[in-house]
Amino acid sequence: MAGAAQQTLPIVVLISGRGSNLEAIIEATRRGELPVDICAVISNRPDAAGIEISRQAGIETVVVDHACYSDRARFDATLQTTIDSFNPGLVVLAGFMRILTPGFVNHYHGRMINIHPSLLPEFPGLNTHQRALDAGKRVAGATVHFVTAETDGGPAFLQVRVAIQENDTAETLAARVLQHEHRLYPEAIRQVAGGRIALDEQGRATLDGIPLETASLLEPDVATGT
Ligand code: GRF
Repeated sequence: MAGAAQQTLPIVVLISGRGSNLEAIIEATRRGELPVDICAVISNRPDAAGIEISRQAGIETVVVDHACYSDRARFDATLQTTIDSFNPGLVVLAGFMRILTPGFVNHYHGRMINIHPSLLPEFPGLNTHQRALDAGKRVAGATVHFVTAETDGGPAFLQVRVAIQENDTAETLAARVLQHEHRLYPEAIRQVAGGRIALDEQGRATLDGIPLETASLLEPDVATGT
């Protein structure tokens, strides 16, 4: 609507590596498609390629190197203090490869989301694409979910499906799914930022206040072409 001031949601993005999802979020924000303000990017690895993407975009970039901490609890405590110093409404995990302590996860209950390269609840954890091929699946994909203490187990609310081709390897499949992750994550963040997606008191993901039985599918559904 012309002239209407749109509220922006302050977010902090956590990365560990390449940062291609971060880049997709930055680009969607620049195109005016995402009502968010990326306050900071935090990496737990000083050599993450995504750090350069963040700096180039002029975003405040912080390294909290997990290797400098004697245990997980101390690392999480510093990470939490660092995140909270930016006062985000949403914490976005984008290829953040650390198992988080329950206390940390509970602190961000309903305010932290993750993208995972499988159609959860199938294939939580690592090597998702090889496992999908080994299982003879015809369709792969990616999922955005709220983060809970169970790794890759929190309520899922948006998925993208990607057809598996006969000659796919884990690498070709991963590359194709990643292209669709770059559509999926900005749209998922847009739905949270717009208040459409939330976590209710029973810990269920809701869409427009109604609990989701299963995650919604990103349209167009490229696996089936609908
Ligand atoms: C993505 O495949 C994401 O689903 C998973 O980690 C990967 C991160 O890639 N959680 P990038 O760093 O965003 O390029």
